[in-house]
Amino acid sequence: MPEGLAELHVHIEGTLEPELIFILAERNGIALPYRDLDDLRSRYAFDDLQSFLDLYYANMAVLRTAEDFADLARAYFARAARAGVTRAEFFFDPQAHTARGVAVHEVVAGLSDAVAGARREFGIDAAMIASIVRDRPVPEAHEVFGELLRLGAPIIGLGLDSAEVGYPPSLFEDVFARARAEGLHVTAHAGEEGPPEYVWQALDLLGAERIDHGIRSLEDPALVARLVDERIPLTVCPFSNVRLRAVDSLAEHPLRRMLAEGLAVSVHSDDPAYFGGYVDDNLVGLTDALGLTEAEREVLRRNSWDAAFL
Ligand code: ADE
Ligand code: ZN
Repeated sequence: MPEGLAELHVHIEGTLEPELIFILAERNGIALPYRDLDDLRSRYAFDDLQSFLDLYYANMAVLRTAEDFADLARAYFARAARAGVTRAEFFFDPQAHTARGVAVHEVVAGLSDAVAGARREFGIDAAMIASIVRDRPVPEAHEVFGELLRLGAPIIGLGLDSAEVGYPPSLFEDVFARARAEGLHVTAHAGEEGPPEYVWQALDLLGAERIDHGIRSLEDPALVARLVDERIPLTVCPFSNVRLRAVDSLAEHPLRRMLAEGLAVSVHSDDPAYFGGYVDDNLVGLTDALGLTEAEREVLRRNSWDAAFL
């Protein structure tokens, strides 16, 4: 097994730190609706997934050019290297950018530039996963996926994210079939706020090789048995679950129960700029709150490598 950690559940747009928001706004001549950094930071208190997504998408207004995306990803890699990350499979949301007039090629050019430099500059083997924004129209998902293929975007997989409840995986069966036919890996957010049924659909209809979050799978014993039997990885993000109120507190996080059930769980950061920390912070937080042992942390690390698309 390689050294370090494999970070498998991080949205690159969710690594956009407040300081960089102000720097990019200045560079691009964008007037922010915040007085200053403190005013922006005061808005990082969320009631649920949607209240977070509203701010997450609004802040992306500062990302305009390939250079902006490259700077965003480079800043993330610098921080991830300090967290001990040596493999980073990160999501990006093409539709969040095309919907506001930024071309896919700007996004892909900037991110792939940073990916190319990640090994040399930070010792990180990085890879991109395009994610379908599930609360946008289904035909748009097909258009954007087609555009990624036309550009020859160096993606390793297709994901599914954004507002979960009311947007079941079944809507996206066809676009994921296309992705699989292209030889891409498939992963999907499911069972974060949505029901266990969405996890079943991600597996059976999308062909998901891993499930992002999946914490609500615990409500369905037959689903747990399936996930254990097939060793389907679940990429769990504890700080995110607490900040988006899927879980009441870190001390009540079901991670230990998931490990005890034999689920292939690993720990990740989701949107670290918004949820109070990167993958190392999540592991320290869990260690303090749940009393995770060194041996349990090693299991989580090993699971992260088993789940990587390598
Ligand atoms: N996009 C960014 N973070 C997300 C999350 N936690 N759930 C769904 N979509 C997201
Ligand atoms: Zn996520």
